[in-house]
Amino acid sequence: MKDLAKRVDLLRESPTRKIDSIREKLKRENRDIIVFSAGQPSIPPPIEIRELMGQLLKVESMELYGYTPSQGIYELRQAISEDLKRLASIDVDPDSIVVTAGGQAAMFSTLATLIEPGDEVILFDPTYFGYKPLLDYYGAKIVRHYVSMENEFQPDIEKLKSQITSKTKAIIIVTPDNPSGRLITHESAKALAEIAVDHDIWLITDEAYKTLIYEGEHEYLYKYAPNNVISLNTFSKDPAIPGWRLGYAYGPKEVISKIKLVNEEMVYCPPSFAQHMVARYLRSEVRMSYIKRVVEEYRRRRDIMVSEIRSKLPGAKFVIPKGSMFVFTDFKEYGLNGDYLSNLLLEKYGVASVPGSYFSEVYTSALRFSFVAETPERIKKGIEKVSEALEDLGKNHTK
Ligand SMILES: Cc1ncc(COP(=O)(O)O)c(C=O)c1O
Repeated sequence: MKDLAKRVDLLRESPTRKIDSIREKLKRENRDIIVFSAGQPSIPPPIEIRELMGQLLKVESMELYGYTPSQGIYELRQAISEDLKRLASIDVDPDSIVVTAGGQAAMFSTLATLIEPGDEVILFDPTYFGYKPLLDYYGAKIVRHYVSMENEFQPDIEKLKSQITSKTKAIIIVTPDNPSGRLITHESAKALAEIAVDHDIWLITDEAYKTLIYEGEHEYLYKYAPNNVISLNTFSKDPAIPGWRLGYAYGPKEVISKIKLVNEEMVYCPPSFAQHMVARYLRSEVRMSYIKRVVEEYRRRRDIMVSEIRSKLPGAKFVIPKGSMFVFTDFKEYGLNGDYLSNLLLEKYGVASVPGSYFSEVYTSALRFSFVAETPERIKKGIEKVSEALEDLGKNHTK
């Protein structure tokens, strides 16, 4: 066989997909697995919208099944524009929005549009694992900006400035962050915008969790640097349709029109049914009440997970997440490696988590625990099992 393209060697199976396949296997063996690994919601989209779509499915028309414009249907782009106005008081023209097949496609096509081999891209550490393989794939040089638990994972603006060179093309900012749950503060947001404008750098802001906020406010960096921000979004978390693959990017029109072309080559158009559904959801009366209910429920589960970790895993360190779905928990004090612990927890104790090494070069003794997938009772049971594992290793001393 002739050699394959070298760039595909840079791609790896997503860790969560990998863990999911082990989890599925254990499930088939009738093992009860407590899922702290998934970055997927557990509350489905509002019943009112599901019922409406059910009605529409009965109509004898191709509307829900046909190709759509590659940039996404106008109704959806208009609904997104209205939603951004409602949520953030920002004005984004529907033509400055491109609808994509999920957040991942928004990431892939944006980096395809911006990055040339050799460009430097500043990536926080820890942050979402989805960026490194794509940056490698496009030949970018990753410059890590280390953020720490002690500093609540906020960037060090002076340090960041010193990392900028003539080759810096972009800074990637995930807020609320996955895995840390950190929200960029108002001061940091303004400082980042200033840096981007001063140095003519792109700010790629990943706002996948922008409506899952438990305390504080989400900062829309577009407000401060509209000509420098490409904002990446997904409907996988709100309104909870990860399997239907729908997301979007917004930013300067000229860039968005190129991102659209990349998407056109890749998937032709985003999924039609999901576009029609989300357009109706965003414009519905239940849009805000639904997300409020979801946030209240997830906050309750977060609080339970936090208090369980505090009482059952006293050596574990974490920062209470202000947004997203995760408690990033460091087991360094136990002298444990995260990959080892995650594997042990899954195979022996039936608790699925994601090791810190997927997000960070530093937090290799951490685990990412999702608090949204399981009920409060099972969250308690899961943390109890982690505690049991540590006891069995002779590491936990709560009893
Ligand atoms: C921060 C962040 N960005 C992007 C994505 C990708 O979104 P999607 O699942 O819609 O492809 C995820 C998914 O978990 C995420 O956590």
